[in-house]
Parts: sequence; C-alpha cells; structure tokens
Amino acid sequence: MRIHLLIASALAALNSGCPSTWGCDPPSEHFTVDAELSEADVGELITNWGFSDRASITCDAACHFAYERERSWQVGNADSCTLSVAPTAGATPETIVGSVQCEGTGYEYFCEGRRPLGHIDGEHRGHDLADYLARCAHLEAASVVAFHQIADALARADAPAELIARCRRAAADEERHAADDGALARARGAAPAPARQRPCAPTLADLAIDNAREGCVLEAWAALRAAFVGARARDPALRRAYAPLAADEAEHAELSWDLHTWLIGQVDSDTRAAAAAAMDQALARLPAIARAQATHGPAALGLDGDTAEALARRFAAGLRARARLAAHAS
Ligand SMILES: [Fe+2]
Ligand SMILES: [Fe+2]
Repeated sequence: MRIHLLIASALAALNSGCPSTWGCDPPSEHFTVDAELSEADVGELITNWGFSDRASITCDAACHFAYERERSWQVGNADSCTLSVAPTAGATPETIVGSVQCEGTGYEYFCEGRRPLGHIDGEHRGHDLADYLARCAHLEAASVVAFHQIADALARADAPAELIARCRRAAADEERHAADDGALARARGAAPAPARQRPCAPTLADLAIDNAREGCVLEAWAALRAAFVGARARDPALRRAYAPLAADEAEHAELSWDLHTWLIGQVDSDTRAAAAAAMDQALARLPAIARAQATHGPAALGLDGDTAEALARRFAAGLRARARLAAHAS
C-alpha cells in the first residue's frame, strides 16, 4: 500500500547514522538509566520485542526500552545492565513489577525528517512550541543536504535518472519547509541553528542501511505526524503550514521505499540482511518513540502520548506488510 494511503488509514482509525564510516556517525552521548518497569511496560516488552514471556526479557532490551522512552534516542551499546522483573500474580497495568539500571552510549534517532549521514545536531533542547519549530526548521535544512547527498551517491553509482531527479526535487521541497518552519519559529522568538555536517561520502551499502531505517520508517512516520498536525493542531497557523508540507513528506517517504527497492538490489546479502534488521528494529521501537516524542512535544501540536503510540502501532503494521512485499519482489 502506498504511504499516503497508510497515513490516511492510520489517521482514519483514530476516529473509529551510518555504520561503516566514522564521519557519517550520528550524534551520540553517554547515558545512564535507572527506571521502574510497570506491568504494562513488561507486557509491551514481551509483545513488541518478541519475547515469549517475562522470564525471557533481556536486560539489553529493557535498557533500550527505558532509554528510548525517556530520551527518544536509541541505545548504541550498554556497558553495564541490571534487570529485575518479578513474577507478580494479579498485578494491574500500573503496578511496578521491576526495574532496570544501565549505562552506555546512545545515538539520536533521525525522527523529525531525514538528516544526512554526518549530521551535526543543532542542539535545540527546549520543549516549547518556538523551540520545537526551530528544531524542525533546522532538521528540514538538514534534509536538503540529505537528499543532495543521496542524489550525489546515486549519480556516482549510475542509478536511474528518475530516482536522482526525485531526490533533487525532494531537496527543493525541504528548502521550502525549512523556510516555512523557520518563519514560524522566528515569529515566536526562536532562531533555527544552521545545518552542519562532518565530511561524509556514503557508499551504497551505507545508504541501504540508513534508508531502511531513517527513510522507510522514520521519515514515513514524520510524514504521518505532519499529516496529523496539518489536520488537528490546535494552532491554526500550524495547520495551515503543515497541511501542504505533509503531502510533500508522504512523497518523500514513498521515494524512500523506491530507493529501498533499488538499493537492496545493488548490495550484497550481508548488507541486505543489515538493512532488513535496521528496518525491523526501527519498526519495533516506533510506538515507544512516538509516545516519547508526543509526551515531550508541545501541546499545541494536539498529539498526546496515547494517540501517538496508537497511530504508530497501526502505521508500523502497515509498513511491515509493505516490507514483506518489497522483500518478496526483490
Ligand atoms: Fe520536510
Ligand atoms: Fe522530507
């Protein structure tokens, strides 16, 4: 199913980095987690992370779960981890039944638009609407670079001219989005940081893995969020700005899937497996990421944690079905 139909389907239901090149690595940080786990959390870990029961949940998975919920970033590696989950009979979803303590290195999810490999984050850390819009403008500007980066790599690989042209058009869209979001942010007193990158010339293997996660899953999710804001934001200025932007982003997500089809046809079996794993991992974590984004995002967007998580679950199921079709066709 095409991305704009998946987005429409998910919304309708409501009513009823770069592994092989140092210069391409995403922003990272040292993290520590000390989190309680409720019965509902344990159920979510079992359901979404593929465990058979509570006894089989790994510390690593619980650490990922808790860190992503708190920070919206992903665990790169956990240097230490301690997990306890009690076999509590009769617990309600809110009952605290365990805890996880861990520390390690975390990486930023590229969740608000497609950023280039080698992206240097603009450090917009505030949570009010002006900060949020400034961050969006910063990331839209980064997306301009990302699409030119992909187009350049495709041109080096003699990829189909049609794919290269669509990447260049997407870059032009992102320039408009950066200008529009920047105007909204400045009108509220916040200034977007310019897009910056480390030197980075990704290979097709780098792009295949990055695109499977950042393009096929996270940019697609960003398209759905934009559609939601365009239709339901409490602030009319946001609705006016995001409605046309959402249509562009759905096209970009569709482009990501067409890029995926071409890229996995160009790379070796190990890279195809790594791309599939990256996509699976991003899909499994999307509901938790969606909840964290909404919980920490400005209320003016009109998207609460429960709604975001429900949207993400439905959308992820649709993307999984599409991934199965893509794998079958390749
Ligand atoms: Fe955009
Ligand atoms: Fe985009």
